[in-house]
Amino acid sequence: MSQPTIESILNENRLFAPPTELAEQAHIKNLEEYRQLQARATTDPEGFWGELAARELEWFEPWTQVLDWQPPFAKWFVDGKLNITHNCLDRHLSTWRRNKAALIWEGEPGDSRTLTYAQLHREVCQMANVLKQLGVQKGDRVGIYMPMIPEAAIALLACARIGAPHTVVFGGFSAEALQNRLVDAKAKLVIAADGGFRKDKTVPLKVAVDRALADNGAPTVEHVLVVKRTGEAVEMVEGRDYWWHDLQAGASGTCPAEPMDSEDMLFILYTSGTTGKPKGVVHTTGGYNLYSHVTLKWAFDLKDTDVYWCTADVGWITGHSYIVYGPLSNGATTLMYEGAPRPSNPGCLWDVVEKYGVSIFYTAPTAIRALSKLGDRYPNARDLSSLRILGTVGEPINPEAWMWYRRVIGGDRCPIVDTWWQTETGGFMISPLPGATPTKPGSATFPFPGIQADVVDMEGNPVTGNEGGYLVVKHPWPGMMRTVYGNPERFRRTYWEHIPPKDGQYLYFAGDGAHKDEDGYFWIMGRVDDVINVAGHRLGTMEVESALVSHPAVAEAAVVGRNDEIKGEDIFAFVILETDRDPSDALAAELKQHVVREIGAIARPGGIRFTDVLPKTRSGKIVRRVLRSLASGEEVAGDTSTLEDRSVLEKLRAGE
Ligand code: WTA
Repeated sequence: MSQPTIESILNENRLFAPPTELAEQAHIKNLEEYRQLQARATTDPEGFWGELAARELEWFEPWTQVLDWQPPFAKWFVDGKLNITHNCLDRHLSTWRRNKAALIWEGEPGDSRTLTYAQLHREVCQMANVLKQLGVQKGDRVGIYMPMIPEAAIALLACARIGAPHTVVFGGFSAEALQNRLVDAKAKLVIAADGGFRKDKTVPLKVAVDRALADNGAPTVEHVLVVKRTGEAVEMVEGRDYWWHDLQAGASGTCPAEPMDSEDMLFILYTSGTTGKPKGVVHTTGGYNLYSHVTLKWAFDLKDTDVYWCTADVGWITGHSYIVYGPLSNGATTLMYEGAPRPSNPGCLWDVVEKYGVSIFYTAPTAIRALSKLGDRYPNARDLSSLRILGTVGEPINPEAWMWYRRVIGGDRCPIVDTWWQTETGGFMISPLPGATPTKPGSATFPFPGIQADVVDMEGNPVTGNEGGYLVVKHPWPGMMRTVYGNPERFRRTYWEHIPPKDGQYLYFAGDGAHKDEDGYFWIMGRVDDVINVAGHRLGTMEVESALVSHPAVAEAAVVGRNDEIKGEDIFAFVILETDRDPSDALAAELKQHVVREIGAIARPGGIRFTDVLPKTRSGKIVRRVLRSLASGEEVAGDTSTLEDRSVLEKLRAGE
């Protein structure tokens, strides 16, 4: 757990009430209303979620049972039939929203596009027809490896349209990482682009796809559909690769939405865990549609008049739930931006806010900390008065960054919505409701209506006061992951048996530490497992260690997170070399580059220390706590008696 965060939040007692005018017009108007919803959801969860599902979504056929809970496996809206793209597109076409902007897109070089609901529907249908033409059928998995362009959203929706589960691989992941995921998902087709623009450079995505597929590297993949973005020369393999614009030209703009069972798989999204390879988190159709829809509507008080902008990448769960599915299901205008703040344009985000009159802005603490470092002059140079609500996600936000966000970006008038959730949860779990919840800087406040969260000890007993514990969820919710793709036992073990079930009650173990203050506010303290959160991106220490030891010079590696002022955490690696290799700066640089090749740039270690020894327990387990302290330059506190050889500590200290 990250100690400094805990200490700083303990001193935090500022309270910010919801703005009166916003509250009066909000979907949820006050704490009393929140409490009533929560009470209702606790005493009658099925009634609560059933009513919402009937009111907020259109179904082709009704369900016969709201929840079938056979711990840890849940089915929501049993036998119900729907298609999420019908809720995201078709149902708006018969209303005035037909010609409303569904997707506003701004490219990094300054090009832009706006697609109305009618236009987006047409292009989604076209791509759906092209996928069918290339042999994709209901149930087949499709890999997506794209930059932040409209076709990324179109690709997700086209898959969902025909019932082909998508698995999006973040465009920053390497060819190796892409290959692993395509193999695990047994993908039949990949939708990619020639490349994308990123911080004034191009990212050659098609080259990575070629590398992933080379030498029959992902044998199930039959075709690659390539969107032209950068225009750079790419190799097109005859009979395997097709340009999207070629096939789009002949594709019909009508494609019926496949009736899906509520529990049919909608997508797989890989995420890092404590051990082994990334897990394929499985989400299904009905529950996910409802949960991403209603969480966004209430937590961001989403209205038809809003221009809503989430700066995440479509490759992460935040992009899935809150750039594509949640906003479109609500009939909102969602903005997508290819660029990012960069030396040539540090104020680009505020340009976009002003240009489109963005009213809801949702980003990560890392971005906020980096932006605040640049000072107030960039935001102050733009008209940000259109903003009414600000959001944050991905890591704990320190009160200083929170206050800067509120004051400089929000003009002291916009509520800050700090949303705690995970790939596994599908949508927000702990979050303020901007018209109802008084906020405290650094706290995600209260569980979302319908969510029963708590902080417990290892035996599942509630922990109160300022004492920390493990964050758990005590009742299933519609947006929860259903399983680990191809590995239900891993799902059971990782999430539901980590804290042993008591009296038949199963507790979902989130992997985060938290504490609840005397007012019932939740304070998230960060991961308690071997997951590192670098700039809001999850990476398993094991993944990075495996990447390092796959280099011939490395005998053993131990990877930990070290505190970083901007990124929250940074990767630090302790490396033991093979006996015939000598440490050098050049070798350290080579190892960093090796990790980038194996996983992607987000996993590049910030520091490498060569060593001859690692602190281990008698059973041979690396004691990461000790390494974390050493990496962050802190005193090694706590019990070191479990170390097999305590002189190791002295050696590591001496190596500083
Ligand atoms: C962390 C991202 C503190 C947490 C949606 C969680 C947060 C992990 C917050 C999930 C927050 C996310 N405050 N920590 N508001 N939001 N986290 O799967 O450690 O990429 O377990 O999902 O991010 O990361 P994931």
